[in-house]
Amino acid sequence: MCAYKRKDGYYHKAKKEGYRSRAIYKLKQIDEKFYIFNPGDIVVDLGAAPGSWSEYAVEVVGEDNVIAIDLERMRDIEGVSTYQGDLTDDEVLNRLSIIAGDVDVVISDMAPNISGNYSLDHARSVYLSQRALKFCDMSLNNGGNFVVKIFQGEDFKNFLEDVKSQFSFVKAHSPRASRESSSEMYIIGKGFKGKN
Ligand SMILES: C[S@@+](CC[C@H](N)C(=O)[O-])C[C@H]1O[C@@H](n2cnc3c(N)ncnc32)[C@H](O)[C@@H]1O
Repeated sequence: MCAYKRKDGYYHKAKKEGYRSRAIYKLKQIDEKFYIFNPGDIVVDLGAAPGSWSEYAVEVVGEDNVIAIDLERMRDIEGVSTYQGDLTDDEVLNRLSIIAGDVDVVISDMAPNISGNYSLDHARSVYLSQRALKFCDMSLNNGGNFVVKIFQGEDFKNFLEDVKSQFSFVKAHSPRASRESSSEMYIIGKGFKGKN
């Protein structure tokens, strides 16, 4: 991909507005359309590095209400508790669930390293999305909200059905800030029906 495409308008906007990544505008656009967050909500951000989703979330819900975790070490964000860990590891998921307590919103922008093999990248993305849904089962309050990234492919529909079985309102959505060439979609689940 050429440098011109990498550094598009959203990249420059994020830089100008002081956010860590252009990904902020995907979450902002999703929130403006689907009303994900309320002030005072407890939010867990999965696959959070470098941190722009957490930067947005803390602005909306307030300081000390956001917990962020990533495989990579993150630079601190004021008002956000940051952790490093692999969310495919059950032990990490369990510990995060204990730390977070009762959660109002789970957001996951987790993505695998892109191999270039479409099926493999899709399968890995589905697995990460399933881990995020598992975390909802462990920690999300009844009525809570969920935003999760998933790459499109053959298992997309099955995952969408899994989310539908657990939330009252579910939509697959591609925000304007997602690149046209990207296969990523976001699934929005509102009104969690309850922990299994
Ligand atoms: C697209 S980036 C997230 C960008 C972020 N939403 C932001 O606004 O800055 C995807 C992240 O998922 C993380 N990730 C991938 N696999 C993971 C795993 N198994 N456990 C935790 N994080 C993971 C990557 O390290 C990467 O930082």
